Amino acid sequence: MLAPMEKIIDAAFRTICYKYGADLTFTELIRFETLAKNNRSALKRIKLYDETPTMIQFMGTNEDKLKKFLDNFNPTPGFKGFNFNLGCPSQNYVNSGVGSRMISRPTKTQRLVSIVQDYGYPVNIKMRLGMTRQETLDKVYLKLIEKVNADFFVVHARYRSQSYKVPPKWDIFVECVATGKEIIANGDIKSHEDVNLLEEMGCSGVMIGRQAIINPLIFGQLKNLNSLPTLKSVFDEYITLAGTREMNYSKRLFEIRPEDLPNLKG
Ligand SMILES: Cc1cc2nc3c(=O)[nH]c(=O)nc-3n(C[C@H](O)[C@H](O)[C@H](O)COP(=O)(O)O)c2cc1C
Repeated sequence: MLAPMEKIIDAAFRTICYKYGADLTFTELIRFETLAKNNRSALKRIKLYDETPTMIQFMGTNEDKLKKFLDNFNPTPGFKGFNFNLGCPSQNYVNSGVGSRMISRPTKTQRLVSIVQDYGYPVNIKMRLGMTRQETLDKVYLKLIEKVNADFFVVHARYRSQSYKVPPKWDIFVECVATGKEIIANGDIKSHEDVNLLEEMGCSGVMIGRQAIINPLIFGQLKNLNSLPTLKSVFDEYITLAGTREMNYSKRLFEIRPEDLPNLKG
């Protein structure tokens, strides 16, 4: 799966990653309270342009606003369901009770998930391990996975304040898998060896973010697909496609160098 990355991954990049091996992609985070206002620029962020399999990611707490958004939502080809963001570390979001703050709120999360399911849409979760080291030691992530009835859980194996320089705690995937839920591993995944190890731990899949920015062919390479094009031609193809779509982040994406990856904030 291609990870959501706000203001970096646009619809054209999602299409390209799908074409060359990613099974599933995600839109960048947005509050459903904002979507409920029918705000044009917010709706652009969740616009799907083709049949690339895509989960629409959102966050929020207001149940009436979630229903209001869903009342007006019309799925288009490519739409595969909704993803709740329970991982964003940003101060603003955390202060208003969303993102990583929600990891310790399984009852509230289950209510939101049920609302989406009542409308007949698939729903899954993307989360970190907790807000703090203590929450992580208290295993709030495990309680959430156990209590919430979502299709799958993408687990970024770091807690909120951990930067990308701290290695993710992959060993927690074993207990996440032991809950019997579908677990997708996320955080620093780059190679066949990584994927094999995570598969041995029982993970159902992997999500890749930053590595895909500099190598969108990584999905096809990890699947050993034959006859992949050169990176240069893939980026040219992306630029051509991005030019045909309303919202694209190609300028920002091309400014990122491999050595910048550990310093990206997300
Ligand atoms: C610039 C940037 C923006 C991000 N935006 C989002 C986002 O909108 N939603 C989300 O769930 N995660 C977001 N993330 C987190 C990634 O989806 C992913 O969980 C994280 O980068 C770890 O995976 P990786 O090591 O493969 O990059 C962002 C990360 C970065 C670096």
